[in-house]
Amino acid sequence: MSASKETEGAVAVITIRNPPVNALSQQAVESILKVLKEVQFDPAVKAIVICGENGKFSAGADIRTFENIGQKSDSLSHFLEDVNSMAEKSEKPVIAAIEGVALGGGLELALGCHYRVAHVKARLGLTEVLLGIFPGAGGTQRLPRLIGLLPALEMITTGKIVFAPVALKLGLIDSVTEDNTIKAAIHFAQNVIGKPLESRRLCTKPIQCPPNMETIFNDSKIKLKKLFHGAISHQLCVEAIRAAVQLPFAEGILKERELLFSIFNSEQARDQAKARQYAFFAERRVTKWTTPSGANWKSASPHPIGVAAVIGLGTMGRGIVVCLAKAQIQVIAVEQDGKQLEMGRKAVTKILERETLTMQQRGLALMSDSFGSITFTLDFNSLKNADLVIEAVYENMALKKEIFKQLSSICMPEAFLCTNTSGLNIDEIASVTGRPHLVIGTHFFSPAHIMKLLEVVRGYHSSPTTISTVINLSKVLGKIGVVVGNCPSFVGNRMMGPYLHQAIFLLEDGCYPEEVDKVLEEFGLAMGPFRMSDLVGLDVGWRSRMESGLTGPKLLPGALVRQREGKRYSPLPDILCEKGRFGQKTGRGWYQYETVGGRNAVPDPWVQNFLHDYRKAHTIKQKPTSQNEILEWCLYPLINEGFNVLEEEIASGPEDIDVIYNNGYGWPRHMGGPMFYASMVGLPKVLTKLEVFYENNPDIPSLKPSGLLKKLVKQGSPPLKEWRSQLGYQNSKL
Ligand code: CAA
Ligand code: NAI
Repeated sequence: MSASKETEGAVAVITIRNPPVNALSQQAVESILKVLKEVQFDPAVKAIVICGENGKFSAGADIRTFENIGQKSDSLSHFLEDVNSMAEKSEKPVIAAIEGVALGGGLELALGCHYRVAHVKARLGLTEVLLGIFPGAGGTQRLPRLIGLLPALEMITTGKIVFAPVALKLGLIDSVTEDNTIKAAIHFAQNVIGKPLESRRLCTKPIQCPPNMETIFNDSKIKLKKLFHGAISHQLCVEAIRAAVQLPFAEGILKERELLFSIFNSEQARDQAKARQYAFFAERRVTKWTTPSGANWKSASPHPIGVAAVIGLGTMGRGIVVCLAKAQIQVIAVEQDGKQLEMGRKAVTKILERETLTMQQRGLALMSDSFGSITFTLDFNSLKNADLVIEAVYENMALKKEIFKQLSSICMPEAFLCTNTSGLNIDEIASVTGRPHLVIGTHFFSPAHIMKLLEVVRGYHSSPTTISTVINLSKVLGKIGVVVGNCPSFVGNRMMGPYLHQAIFLLEDGCYPEEVDKVLEEFGLAMGPFRMSDLVGLDVGWRSRMESGLTGPKLLPGALVRQREGKRYSPLPDILCEKGRFGQKTGRGWYQYETVGGRNAVPDPWVQNFLHDYRKAHTIKQKPTSQNEILEWCLYPLINEGFNVLEEEIASGPEDIDVIYNNGYGWPRHMGGPMFYASMVGLPKVLTKLEVFYENNPDIPSLKPSGLLKKLVKQGSPPLKEWRSQLGYQNSKL
């Protein structure tokens, strides 16, 4: 960890060194300060360039040192602001040469410089808010002065990262280069030697403000509350920017400090910051997968994928085609008949057009001016050219087996065969092929071109190379791949099961869909269980329940209406489906919608009357339920299933589950993920509550506390990072 200085003519080049991302640790900042002071007094130096080693300017403060968040990041920010201020006050021009990333404190340092030169592929952002804090080294005061109030408000409050071409348009940087950035910055420096610097010092620059500022701030707070339910740091960002507008620079800096300090002084804000930082490292942790046989991310080598195929261009297939094409992979898109093929082609084209527009707006067109080519075909023989095939046909085992049989004979012997099944047995699918070691589950989430999660479902025979290839592909697609074991519904959907059942039982017992959704949305989930079910389509679960004989023609005669094999069962969603209420797709479900396919969920008096009549018919007494009871009743069984998943070693650690929930199920990152949340609530509390629930509802088996949860509580509830060590690999499906 150091900063060193070399000189090129009259230009001193200060290089930040702290691999892998030149994070600004206390030591690194001290070192920059020392060298910066040195060159100030060196008469031979007429200009200064600051850059980072190995093609990265700096990824900001060293998050690894945040564990003790109350003190470390706070004092680091102050210290960094001293450096920024010294650079800004320098009588010699200081130029930031930005390669790779300038994030968080890294960008704040660049803002202290008089000029910024960036490589065309560099990414810049004040991302602190995504870690539960906010820019505390002058970023909230300098950025609005540089790029104006509105763009600064957006960048700071959302942690948005922009690419260099967009940064140039915003006025965030002064020059973009496609060549060697350091050389370009030195050249730039030579040209500005001796020029006046006063106008380059952001601390002296006034902010251009629109007349309706108060409305802008208030609207922004409302929008952020909606987007990041209950997350404190986003709101504080607005206050810091308000200070930038209302106060002179020096006072604004003090206010920024005071607001940052308020995060460390509030237990809730501190917990949110801890949760966000945990989520950051959890995402990095899950990439380091391992299997019981000892294979792991280091020992297995991925195969590059040049040509990929997708079979089935329905809801999922079309999104998968888009993300492959966006990653510049050549795609063969296969359907079963001309009509479906045409529909698929149109849908893919439409999404790609929208994506192109978005990319242009984000300034990405410069770097990826073409998508991978897509061939739409009905000819299965064209699959012989694919390195990897992703099957996304209907969720039907017989159909999937038929397709994999064909793939096994058509595809190259070394081609990887993947299924997008949301819960079927990977081993059974693999069994019909002559290459089960190359078969694996790639469970994308809807919409596949947007959702970041990829559950990588390892079958019994899936080889380390197959896992490695798919994990690598997930990175290429800009997704986070999490390796999980093979069990019905895998990890995410399996944990959703008890949660959704609990929510429906609440309706039997007296709640209404909007009440339950409100509680879970206020907690921070992107959507409550009923809005989510309406979006997914109630018919999906209904068909699978009919298939398994829980309802419909296969239901055994004499079955009780509200019980199946001695367990509590609610027929409510079945009745809704029988009435044609499938959710958004039919314009009616748990809610009503303005049109078929509409998205605006409005409470439906029909549902209220229906529930009222249902309770009356079954003589169910309406129980008063508090918001807290709703929350615990729904979330604790989901968490309990998470412990079961860990105990069965379907997931290799709590981080894996949390990454799945943060990226696939709209779990609020400032709550870390369900397992992190359990650790914050306290395992004894979760266990006691589950015990009470189970005692009162012995006909709901998912309330039975998991053995692992009990074991951890018995051991004194060790911190989450130690749970993994409690899991052996003897029975592992991983
Ligand atoms: N501090 C410490 N370690 C960091 C780091 C940081 N700021 N940023 C990344 N790392 C580590 C990662 O944990 C990872 O470590 P392992 O190899 O041990 O897992 C390694 O660097 C490489 O990171 P990635 O795997 O994420 O690599 P990538 O190329 O995919 O992404 C990145 C690189 C874009 C920089 C990404 O890591 C990132 O977004 N980092 C966070 C940036 C950020 O939010 N900075 C703000 C910090 S807060 C701040 O700056 C406030 C202040 O001044 C006090
Ligand atoms: P869908 O019903 O929207 O699309 C399936 C497509 O497969 C249709 O276009 C159909 O014409 C095509 N198809 C069927 N038989 C075919 C054959 N023999 N050859 C070529 N094409 C054929 O289904 P959806 O929702 O896209 O689901 C696909 C798979 O993804 C299923 O296994 C499902 O469980 C899974 N999944 C679905 C999610 C969702 O939200 N819809 C989420 C995650 C996984």
